[in-house]
Amino acid sequence: MILFENVADLQHYLKEQRAANATIGFTPTMGALHDGHLSLVRRAVKETDISICSIFVNPTQFDDKGDLDRYPRTLGADMDMLRSAGNRLIFAPTVVEMYPPGLKTASGVDFGDMAKHMEGAHRSGHFEGVAQVVKRLVDIVQPEYMYMGQKDYQQQALMGYMMRQLKYKTQVVTCPIMREADGLAMSSRNRHLLPEERQNAGQINKVLLRLKANFKTHTLTEAKQEALRDLENIPGAKPDYLEIVDGVTLKRIENFEDAKSVVACTTVRIGKVRLLDNMVLTAGE
Ligand code: PAJ
Repeated sequence: MILFENVADLQHYLKEQRAANATIGFTPTMGALHDGHLSLVRRAVKETDISICSIFVNPTQFDDKGDLDRYPRTLGADMDMLRSAGNRLIFAPTVVEMYPPGLKTASGVDFGDMAKHMEGAHRSGHFEGVAQVVKRLVDIVQPEYMYMGQKDYQQQALMGYMMRQLKYKTQVVTCPIMREADGLAMSSRNRHLLPEERQNAGQINKVLLRLKANFKTHTLTEAKQEALRDLENIPGAKPDYLEIVDGVTLKRIENFEDAKSVVACTTVRIGKVRLLDNMVLTAGE
């Protein structure tokens, strides 16, 4: 396994690989890896010649400095997991390497309304930071494919939009949500749940599954109201939002028929933890 810490070394290596016509698959992460992350990496390993995973806790996407300081940093364990997934290349740069003084790194992409609701409304500046770091990483790696999780639905949709706006060749490959046995979406934040909170958190997925079952038989308004009430009834839970949106444009829709792909996105607070989840309602229709 090769660990790159600086941009020049990585680019030198990738240039040689590209000259030999290798396709590059890239998985950006902030480390503290779990099986959800690894499912992306495994796909990159399978579908491309060279899989590279970045580990960088990006300061510009945190609106809360405490949250940034508390973010787990577990490089040794991450490297072991990546090795077990067959991933050979890791890029783990420092903040100065990513954002050298004097280099303009803002993405310059205007996401309009796509970034204003859901996570965008609850985490000020978050998506500007994500766009900044992902653009910088893609500029460095120049992958054919970038593997992202459906878990962060709004994030992967925005990054796909950004690649198209910038006319980059990189295609975003969106991978399904990996879940624990009780349905809770895997997340590095789950470890902060107290045992009772952890048990209750499994209900979020069940509410989304019921919403999906109601898709054919209820109006969108009825199904949404019922789901929101169910989320509020999970002991200790406080939903930040539940939105039913067009899966591509992320526009809120009024009727299930208004979009080809319909996705329900939610974030629920349980104790001190914000838990994101979503469900594609139209899959397989
Ligand atoms: P991070 O939270 O580390 O997530 C890295 C990738 O793993 C994201 O694409 C995320 O959607 C995916 N992922 C996380 N949990 C998952 C699960 N349970 N199932 C499937 N995929 C899952 O998202 C970020 O980092 C950052 O914002 C980043 C894109 C790296 C930019 O800093």
